[in-house]
Amino acid sequence: MAKNYVILISGRGSNMQALIEAKLPGRCAAVIANRPDAAGLAWAQARGVPTAVVDHKAYESRDAFDAALAVEIERHAPDLVLLAGFMRVLGQDFVTRFDGRLLNIHPSLLPAFPGLRTHAAALAADVKIHGCTVHFVTPALDCGPIVIQAAVPVLPGDTEADLAARVLAQEHIVYPQAARWFLEGRIGIVDGRVALAGAATAATALRVPQA
Ligand code: GRF
Repeated sequence: MAKNYVILISGRGSNMQALIEAKLPGRCAAVIANRPDAAGLAWAQARGVPTAVVDHKAYESRDAFDAALAVEIERHAPDLVLLAGFMRVLGQDFVTRFDGRLLNIHPSLLPAFPGLRTHAAALAADVKIHGCTVHFVTPALDCGPIVIQAAVPVLPGDTEADLAARVLAQEHIVYPQAARWFLEGRIGIVDGRVALAGAATAATALRVPQA
């Protein structure tokens, strides 16, 4: 049976678009947002992808929101749950429930710059290389086993927006790649690290675009 996946968004949804347009070996069962005004919802609806909103503001506690979100996700019995610009921290119970099938994209080369405003933090630190990371989600924030990373240069005169755009272009390449590997059954976790089976090698888990 074909595998299916669910995408969680909070806003624009450009990573969601990249995932859906990548024609992954599986079906996008739903796009779920925690904000009713998430712009990505309209894009998904226009393409016939089922959407749902679990509005975090309607719940009294983080745990109650997490539980409602989990119920909405489980309706689709997904093989894979993809956080794509999903801006809520998920609690331990939620993360444990989806352990091993929950991926996130983070706009930095983890473990550098966890959290928010990563591009501003990279510029402030004057690093010469920045990028993005696809990783499994574990209870510790921005910390799980790394599937793939893409590195980009930080160029003289870069603004936060310049750097964000350069990184985002790479996010749209590596996130579908990681999801494809997962849906093809090529990703395992061995001793807390990602093991890639088949043609995928360690080298393919690092993307360094040529200038
Ligand atoms: C991306 O940079 C993602 O890595 C970060 O938030 C941004 C979301 O963008 N977590 P989009 O909604 O996918 O366009």
